[in-house]
Amino acid sequence: MDLERLQQQAQTAICDAADLAALEVVRVTYLGKKGRLTEVLKTLGQQDPAERPKLGQAVNQLKQTLLVQIEGKQHDLQQTQLMEQLSTETVDVTLPARQSHPLGSLHPVSHVSQRINSFFYQLGFSVVEGPEIETDYYNFTALNIPQHHPARAMHDTFYFADGRLLRTHTSPVQIREMEHRKPPIRLIAPGRVYRCDSDVTHTPMFHQVEGLYVDEQVSFAHLRSTLQNFFNYFFEQTVPLRFRTSYFPFTEPSAEVDIQCTHCQGAGCRICKSTGWLEVLGCGMVHPNVLQAVNIDSERYTGWAFGLGIDRLAMLRYNIDDLRVLFANDVRFLTQFSG
Ligand code: DAH
Repeated sequence: MDLERLQQQAQTAICDAADLAALEVVRVTYLGKKGRLTEVLKTLGQQDPAERPKLGQAVNQLKQTLLVQIEGKQHDLQQTQLMEQLSTETVDVTLPARQSHPLGSLHPVSHVSQRINSFFYQLGFSVVEGPEIETDYYNFTALNIPQHHPARAMHDTFYFADGRLLRTHTSPVQIREMEHRKPPIRLIAPGRVYRCDSDVTHTPMFHQVEGLYVDEQVSFAHLRSTLQNFFNYFFEQTVPLRFRTSYFPFTEPSAEVDIQCTHCQGAGCRICKSTGWLEVLGCGMVHPNVLQAVNIDSERYTGWAFGLGIDRLAMLRYNIDDLRVLFANDVRFLTQFSG
């Protein structure tokens, strides 16, 4: 057999193969078990023994050569095929995805929290967080609530064996921030707080947001106008406020703030227990002892602070009359807040 001719034929066939299927036919024809090269090998026995090794070697070499050429061609054909596919098939990336899983949504408390953050953020307040496991110092002592102070009884605290505790309010974040920042300080600190308390209007875990503004010449008037603007923004209507004098160890003077019932506009209803008013937060001017505990000169600087119940605002905004549904995680309830 003339190997050279065989080679030429094979190479022409490889070259001419128009697609992968044709190329495969060529491969089988020449290199397959019953292929033409195999046939040649089978005839080796009839050859002159002196010629056999040379011929055998030549056939194997040709086999290698053809194999490499076939693979090269295969690669070229695959590339061409891919290019064709890419140029003809288009993918509409704007099509909506198939929805195999229902989408989740934000919890109403998160919605409200984000709304509060966005208002204060626009006023230049930073949004900060603090730990939920606190020490007695940050939760009480630095806030002017020393050991054995009767105000500690206001908080039904969860304690750990080592003396640490679950923070009972977000006020300790004030201390942590003032320790490493210099006035002017404007911050809000939203987060979870814990009290050993559970009934229709209390859950052992709930949410507060703390507000703090410390600078020279900060006054109660600033506090009042800030809160007024906040509630108007939050409820998207003018909300009358009422300040009642109160007592908190970490503020002096202190006040509790009521908003006019957003449900009955003050006429009296079930939500406001016919009073026309709803208590929503505690606030006041930061006590000089608190400023001194964090080495801020209380002669030069003054500040105000407030603590607001986020869950309460969520209930008002979404007309929810039972606090516990906020934490029951019933999907039928939660899906009402998507979008
Ligand atoms: N920490 C108080 C509480 O949980 C709320 C509060 C009242 C925070 C007055 C303040 C404040 O910052 O000035 O009951």
